[in-house]
Amino acid sequence: MITVTKDKIFSLTNRFFSYVFRVSPEGILEHLHYGGPLKTPHNVAVHHMRTQRETASNFQGSQYFNLSDTPQEFPCFGTSDYRFPALHGRNSDGNTVFSLHYKSHKIVKDKPRLKKLPTARGGDSETLVITLEDPRHKLTVMLSYTVYRDYGVLVRSAKFKNKGDQEIQLQHAFSSALDLPANEYDVLHLHGTWAREFNEERISLPKGRFVIDSSRGTSSAAHNPFIALLQKGTTEEFGRVYATSLIYSGNFALSVEKGEFEDVRILAGINPFNFHWRLKPGKTFCTPEALHVYADNGLRSMSHIWHDFVRDKISPTRFRHVPRSTYLNTWEAAYFDIDEDKVLDLAGKAKEIGVEMLVLDDGWFEGRQDDTSSLGDWTADKARFPSGIPALASKVKAKGLKFGIWFEPEMVNPRSALFEKHPDWVLHVPGRKSSLGRNQLTLDLSRPEVTDYLYEQIDAILCCGNIDYVKWDMNRHMTEVGSAGLPKNRQREVSHRYILGLYGLLKKLTEKYPDIVFENCASGGNRFDLGMLSYMPQGWISDMCDPVGRMDIINGASYLYPLDTMAAYIGPSPNHQNGRISSIQTRFLAGMFCAARGVSLSEAEIDAHRDEIMERMALAKSTNVDMVGGRFDRLVKNNNEVCWQYTSRDGGRVYLVYFHILAAPNLPFRRAHLTGLDPDAVYVLQEDNTRYQGDALMHNGMPMPYVATGQVKDDMRYMSKGDFSSYLFIFNKEK
Ligand code: GLA
Repeated sequence: MITVTKDKIFSLTNRFFSYVFRVSPEGILEHLHYGGPLKTPHNVAVHHMRTQRETASNFQGSQYFNLSDTPQEFPCFGTSDYRFPALHGRNSDGNTVFSLHYKSHKIVKDKPRLKKLPTARGGDSETLVITLEDPRHKLTVMLSYTVYRDYGVLVRSAKFKNKGDQEIQLQHAFSSALDLPANEYDVLHLHGTWAREFNEERISLPKGRFVIDSSRGTSSAAHNPFIALLQKGTTEEFGRVYATSLIYSGNFALSVEKGEFEDVRILAGINPFNFHWRLKPGKTFCTPEALHVYADNGLRSMSHIWHDFVRDKISPTRFRHVPRSTYLNTWEAAYFDIDEDKVLDLAGKAKEIGVEMLVLDDGWFEGRQDDTSSLGDWTADKARFPSGIPALASKVKAKGLKFGIWFEPEMVNPRSALFEKHPDWVLHVPGRKSSLGRNQLTLDLSRPEVTDYLYEQIDAILCCGNIDYVKWDMNRHMTEVGSAGLPKNRQREVSHRYILGLYGLLKKLTEKYPDIVFENCASGGNRFDLGMLSYMPQGWISDMCDPVGRMDIINGASYLYPLDTMAAYIGPSPNHQNGRISSIQTRFLAGMFCAARGVSLSEAEIDAHRDEIMERMALAKSTNVDMVGGRFDRLVKNNNEVCWQYTSRDGGRVYLVYFHILAAPNLPFRRAHLTGLDPDAVYVLQEDNTRYQGDALMHNGMPMPYVATGQVKDDMRYMSKGDFSSYLFIFNKEK
């Protein structure tokens, strides 16, 4: 996989890609190729010509070599490269000019882990570690590149070490830089806000710098940490794609720069805006890992690479391919109007409709009657939950259900015992009022005493042994990000130290409770990223449960995240966020391919649709095994239709959902072309035992049901009349 020639050309090659760079005659790490796998990667042409440019050169005797157009592996600023650099800061002379030169390299078997940060797991992999050095300031940068035998993901990170005797201040400490040749590209990214996460935007890459980032303390719904550069004309099935993400949950930046010579630079890492790290002599700083995917058959092939990798190398191993339970969540069933009796009633309903777990959402802890108080005080409310959580959990379990509970550990309400006792435990800056978000403040997780307190509080509930699931929520953006635990000159380290504190807490809790399924939530998808997924196998991607909204969200999120990292439930209709009325069927099918499925409906709503809900929950339960580890394909997505295919891991069952959003008369007859089937096999449609040949389903396609608006004829396949109709096909592969 990793090979090096005598004249220091490095190649990382597997069956998915080759990544090639060299030490240039000038001692710079010069990028040569990233793309399809090469048989003789060391012979790749240098795509950067040595030619005269009207620009400065820092290399005496090499007037045709300048950094402004040289593709590099880890560029700095100040010695003739004017593009945005991977390293920038204040050196020991007080200026910002750094210059990194190759010093040494080593190849290690497998993949080292990073201290304090979540990392992709190794296994059948090799890692190349290149050490670069700035000789004047004795700053070394160790670049790590991991390549796997069976995955199309390249993992990169950088480790900075101050080997001098003076402090160095880091401002840009990116995880990776990727310089690609001039070409016509589009950029795809995912943006949004609360209840409207993961919208896709695709634009033609302009000259200049295009950046998505966060300074909100979480990776955030505004921009998910994902960016893809697409060859012009790329579709789901065609085109070269370069995609990047990060294993990080805080302030990140992903940028694409098209320079003066139209070459393209992708930078991935911690957001340099408002970041500042003091690196004392002898100290090191590790960046989060950046992940790069190259795919040459369009967006679907890119997603397959991501999905396999996220499942196998990021999300906790112990839940890999483990079916998730169906559940009833109390939130949209009762909101804050919840007490022990109501929980037991809802547990009774859950049992009646055949779901497997009861999840007690917000509202159970001391004094919490609405969202104005009590976050921070994690003991059961004495008046409404007199038996306490362990006893309630036992009662629920006695009904034959599992029991789950909600926490929002990182927050505190000013109206709480915790805040009264420790007002300085929140993120704040001296002399300024703290902004409130949903009436709450953010605890300062950069302080060990705060994470210790949270560990004790949560542990005290979980240790009863009756908890099967925890929903870990986080419901505001951070402001006044300052810490009473750090000196004045380290205040710009707080955001990153917060994330390190959070990761430490999650590691400790998930290691102590390996069997509890932790679900990541931040007002829905405000922190749905690979960092959080490293600890929690699934996430609540959005508070939007209206099926039309949810389809867009899942479609966007599926570019990067496999659907077995997602939870979805049948929420109320009219929907509480947008008022749309839709059927149980369509609400269910929008989340059909997510691993964890359930309901959040009041007893009255359940009674009104009892049989329909029971039928869907039975289907969810019987397909729980299939909904982990399978292959997801986006087949159709336009303004009015969505069609997705899901194929079980063993290929034995194929599901197809089709949604038709707004009804209209005289519509065209649609077909969906299935993908990835065995052309020689027969697939039997469950509803009527019709046998279809695999090649026909792929090449001729499957006719989609017609949206009935007028008279219907018995032998045609129709969907329900009206808007928001949907249909599910299940095919069983004949043995
Ligand atoms: C957030 C979550 C919801 C619910 C509420 C409870 O909004 O996204 O699912 O848990 O908090 O307050």
